[in-house]
Amino acid sequence: MIVCHSILSLRETVQAYRKSGNKIAFVPTMGNLHSGHIQLVHEAKKVADVVISSIFVNPMQFGPNEDLDAYPRTLEADKEKLTDAGCQVLFAPNASEMYPNGTGVQTQVIVPELTDELCGASRPGHFTGVSTVVTKLFNIVQPDIALFGQKDFQQLAVIRKMAADLCMPIEIIGISTVRAASELALSSRNGYLTEQELATAPTLYRTLVQIKDAIEAGSKDFDTLCHQGNSALASAGFKPDYLSVRRQSDLKHATANDDQLVILAAANLGSARLIDNIAFALN
Ligand code: PAJ
Repeated sequence: MIVCHSILSLRETVQAYRKSGNKIAFVPTMGNLHSGHIQLVHEAKKVADVVISSIFVNPMQFGPNEDLDAYPRTLEADKEKLTDAGCQVLFAPNASEMYPNGTGVQTQVIVPELTDELCGASRPGHFTGVSTVVTKLFNIVQPDIALFGQKDFQQLAVIRKMAADLCMPIEIIGISTVRAASELALSSRNGYLTEQELATAPTLYRTLVQIKDAIEAGSKDFDTLCHQGNSALASAGFKPDYLSVRRQSDLKHATANDDQLVILAAANLGSARLIDNIAFALN
């Protein structure tokens, strides 16, 4: 695997691949790779000739009291996993390469409405940091295809909207969430959990499944279901942030007439902020 730390060397590497007519897929990450990230690389290999991944812990998407400094950085182990998965190029810039003038005076890419609620409400500026860095990465790599996990359902919606609104000639592909045997969604932040919290964490997904089952059984009282879900999470030891039934298309509150639904949740457990979701269709 070729590892590039500078924008210039990445551009030169990609240009050579493109000149030979290769289709290029891109998998952006913040590193500390687990099987969820690697699944994106496997899926990328199925749809392109060359897979490029990036590892960059993007300061612009972390709030002042968030875990930027604590975020796990495991570059050597990550390189091995990417190589084993068949990734051909890794772009691993540092913060001054990506933000030579700092993040304060950086041009911003703002996706309105979609980012006002859910994670956007509790993490102001987070999605602007995400859409700005992904735009920069897209401009640097210029892939044909980019792959993102459905685990970050709102992030995927924001990227799709951004790419469509800004006429980016990139196909965005969403990949199903990879879970542990306990059904806990894999996440770099699971590493913050104690053994006891790890045993509790799967309750988040189980709560989503219970609400989905109730809706599939005919319940349309989404507010009550979410209220009960929040109580169950709090009893298990979580500090729930949001739990909500939304329409898949625009993430607006679902009504009884909607049939393409997604239930999204975020909750703190110990020092970790966990998110998860379940998308389904009523027939
Ligand atoms: P990161 O959290 O490292 O995730 C990188 C990609 O892996 C995202 O598309 C995310 O949705 C996907 N992913 C994470 N856990 C997953 C799982 N269990 N199953 C499937 N896919 C999973 O998301 C980011 O980084 C950043 O915001 C980024 C897009 C790189 C911009 O900085």
